Amino acid sequence: MARTLRVELGDNSYPLVVGTGLLNRVGDLLTPHTKSNKVLIVSDTFLKARYMPVVLKSLEDAGLDVSTIAVPAGEENKSLTQFSDIQDSLVEHQLDRGSTLIALGGGVIGDLAGFAAAVYMRGIPYVQIPTTLQAQVDASVGGKTAINHPKGKNLIGAFHQPKLVLIDVRTLKTLDERDIRAGLIEVIKMGVIRDEPLFEMVEENLDAILNLEDATLIDMISSACINKAEIVAKDEKESGLRMVLNYGHTFGHALEAVTHYNRYRHGEAVSIGMNCAAQLAVNLGMFSETDFQRQHTLLKRAKLPIAFPPDLTPEALCAAMYLDKKTLGGKLRLILPTRIGEVVIRDDVDDRHVLEAILQCF
Ligand SMILES: NC(=O)c1ccc[n+]([C@@H]2O[C@H](COP(=O)([O-])OP(=O)(O)OC[C@H]3O[C@@H](n4cnc5c(N)ncnc54)[C@H](O)[C@@H]3O)[C@@H](O)[C@H]2O)c1
Ligand SMILES: [Zn+2]
Repeated sequence: MARTLRVELGDNSYPLVVGTGLLNRVGDLLTPHTKSNKVLIVSDTFLKARYMPVVLKSLEDAGLDVSTIAVPAGEENKSLTQFSDIQDSLVEHQLDRGSTLIALGGGVIGDLAGFAAAVYMRGIPYVQIPTTLQAQVDASVGGKTAINHPKGKNLIGAFHQPKLVLIDVRTLKTLDERDIRAGLIEVIKMGVIRDEPLFEMVEENLDAILNLEDATLIDMISSACINKAEIVAKDEKESGLRMVLNYGHTFGHALEAVTHYNRYRHGEAVSIGMNCAAQLAVNLGMFSETDFQRQHTLLKRAKLPIAFPPDLTPEALCAAMYLDKKTLGGKLRLILPTRIGEVVIRDDVDDRHVLEAILQCF
């Protein structure tokens, strides 16, 4: 069972396959897209034991010359040290400009390995095989790659589009339920910003989604990826339109920062952020109470958090928001909903309104 979509980016266009049983077909799926037979698989230490063997065998059966590297799992490894180890591996195994790097893992591996591919020999082809829901519906589409600097997340990076994205929904079976719920927020977000039918699909199929039913996951992930691909196609280098993807993220990033990135999953912080952005939109008279309740209900049914934790202060959150890199000339840029399926970008909202909405979400 598989569906092939196409991310349309002119010369940088690429296919994205969503389905089951893709890991043992990687070799056959990759060979039409590669010019040299050398491949480096980059993964993490957990996935090395779980999924690397089947991918490795499939590539070797297709006649490819494969080497592998596994970095320790975790956000702290999206680092210069691991980046440097991957470069060492690329040099040691003599990959050339036509060789392929495969990123097998969650968003951390996708970002780290994607950035390694973006700069090795000024850019070599790479394939994304995302294994978390977050990475399948969000990080693997769009070509943003990055590593962290001790002073900030994603400070060092590049735009580099993959040659192919392979999403095997069965990999989600080994993921923590908490990570499934957190990844789901990016789908719900996509529904609110531009796709009311997708929002409704999640409302109607929440149980099947959380039970990881193949056909439902393939439908949902395809829809999320089509949406993201359309946005990226219109704004490949994030100059304007792509900003709508930050719905809930300005509040969410602030919450992640003040809780030192170790209390919430990214998606959980975004869930609270979306509830707060929606509250602000209601207060400004641009979003109906009915639509607010509709989003609120779905977040609660998905067991995602919607309120800021009581040990924080609204002032600390506000201060962190203004430090976020998405502010422009000191003005906060907020993505606010007007209905389920549409948002607007506003940079004229008074601080007082922002603080009031945060207060209401404690
Ligand atoms: N490039 C982009 O556009 C973009 C977009 C969103 C997020 N991101 C980045 O993605 C990262 C977060 O990604 P994430 O949420 O996937 O987290 P992650 O990559 O850290 O993965 C979370 C954990 O799940 C484990 N794991 C991965 N797949 C698994 C599976 N199938 N079964 C069991 N365990 C599995 C990993 O080993 C890891 O310990 C952040 O660094 C964020 O900045 C990038
Ligand atoms: Zn996000």
